Amino acid sequence: MTIEQLTTDGVFTIDGQSFDVTNNVWLVGDDREVLVIDAAHDAAAIADAVGDRRVAMIVCTHGHNDHINAAVELAGLVDAPIALHPNDRRLWDAVHLDRAPDLDLSDGQVLSVGGADLQVLHTPGHSPGGVCLYGDGVLFSGDTLFQGGPGATGRSYSDFDTIIASIRDRLLVLPDDTTVHTGHGESTRIGDEAVDLDEWIARGH
Ligand SMILES: [Fe+2]
Repeated sequence: MTIEQLTTDGVFTIDGQSFDVTNNVWLVGDDREVLVIDAAHDAAAIADAVGDRRVAMIVCTHGHNDHINAAVELAGLVDAPIALHPNDRRLWDAVHLDRAPDLDLSDGQVLSVGGADLQVLHTPGHSPGGVCLYGDGVLFSGDTLFQGGPGATGRSYSDFDTIIASIRDRLLVLPDDTTVHTGHGESTRIGDEAVDLDEWIARGH
């Protein structure tokens, strides 16, 4: 399994506020085909990184606009289906009024690409339909888990107790040496984050 990281810049908008953000876009697969995890901000740059490989699927870790705003354009450029957990359709529909995702992601589903298998883990909390992908000793965590703690839960459709349950029960049970590739910022390891769970709970974010 090869993993390539691209960063793209844009604006995250929620509850009437806008924030400049840099997103991680992950290409997972091999030299023939890839999954694109989170088509953020710049479809042309992502298509360029894909090159002449087939895109098996554009996976959205969740429906926040910064993670999906280039998905429809990218799907057209590379002729690939878009997959989202159905619990985030409300967030998707706020960005892409006239184009639905092609596929529903579900907990336990296995996505195969380039000889690797990635399992879908439904990890609600940051958003109702947030998912992570796990396989080959690597977790793609979207905005559920970052270096330094959980994703934000202070805004609409987020819930702190729910994200803590997702992280505790679904992510921190993975091997300590699991590499965590996040939706924003630096990568980390499960073991490096697990030691801080009680601190996150105490501080409430
Ligand atoms: Fe998010």
